[in-house]
Amino acid sequence: MRFLSQFLSLTAVLILILAALLLLGGGAPAGAAGQGAAANRIAGAPGSSSIELPAPAPDGPLSVEGAIAARRSIRAFADEPVSLAALAQLLWAGQGITGDDGFRRAAPSAGAKYPIELLVVAGDVTGLPAGVYHYDPAEHALAPVSRGDRRDALCDAALSQAWVGRAPFTIIITAVYERTKEKYGERATRYVQIEAGAVAENVYLQAESLGLGTTLVGAFSDEDLKAVLGIEGMEPLGVMPVGVRGR
Ligand SMILES: Cc1cc2nc3c(=O)[nH]c(=O)nc-3n(C[C@H](O)[C@H](O)[C@H](O)COP(=O)(O)O)c2cc1C
Repeated sequence: MRFLSQFLSLTAVLILILAALLLLGGGAPAGAAGQGAAANRIAGAPGSSSIELPAPAPDGPLSVEGAIAARRSIRAFADEPVSLAALAQLLWAGQGITGDDGFRRAAPSAGAKYPIELLVVAGDVTGLPAGVYHYDPAEHALAPVSRGDRRDALCDAALSQAWVGRAPFTIIITAVYERTKEKYGERATRYVQIEAGAVAENVYLQAESLGLGTTLVGAFSDEDLKAVLGIEGMEPLGVMPVGVRGR
């Protein structure tokens, strides 16, 4: 009898400790980049250090209503470069850190798991060497992935939509599904895809406000695009070529 009551109180203590650990873990952010245990891999350009981006502007010339009313998918771009500040502003609109906690981002995320990662294929951005880059929201910086102009390869991956290759740069919305699956299981597929849509709309509206044009492209070969970007364990969900609006 005594043994049984000792066993029961020991079990109760263990349950209490476990519950406390779960409560503490549940309230905490899943890390600066929301990575959790799920790993993703991006090939890095050897010997390259991160490029600090211009701080995002807190204001713009267009109201939210004006941007929504004017937004259109733009596929014709002027033959001119886009500034690094404009690229930085679009990345911030898509995935920038906006929370005072240094954690929450511009676009909503189920359970604040932040599975979305933005990559950039840059070809004609003022002050930025042509290459593939990975956006680091915590540092508001670009980590070089590979050097050289990959716009032709990107165009091929986008099922040869020729205008894609003519954009000065392209933002690629990718996701690490595992981050959201850890918490939501199969429903994560739906959540992550909804999140990609929210990110894309932020980028559309920010582009409108900057006088730039973009289109969300869903027609691409997953495998070819992953090879262009040099990513593993991350799924590309949307391709957004950006440029100054052409005629
Ligand atoms: C999920 C999705 C995938 C799309 N894929 C492509 C695409 O591969 N190529 C393209 O030119 N436009 C693509 N679009 C853009 C649509 O054609 C465009 O949104 C539609 O014609 C409505 O025009 P608007 O965006 O100017 O209002 C896509 C849009 C969405 C939402």
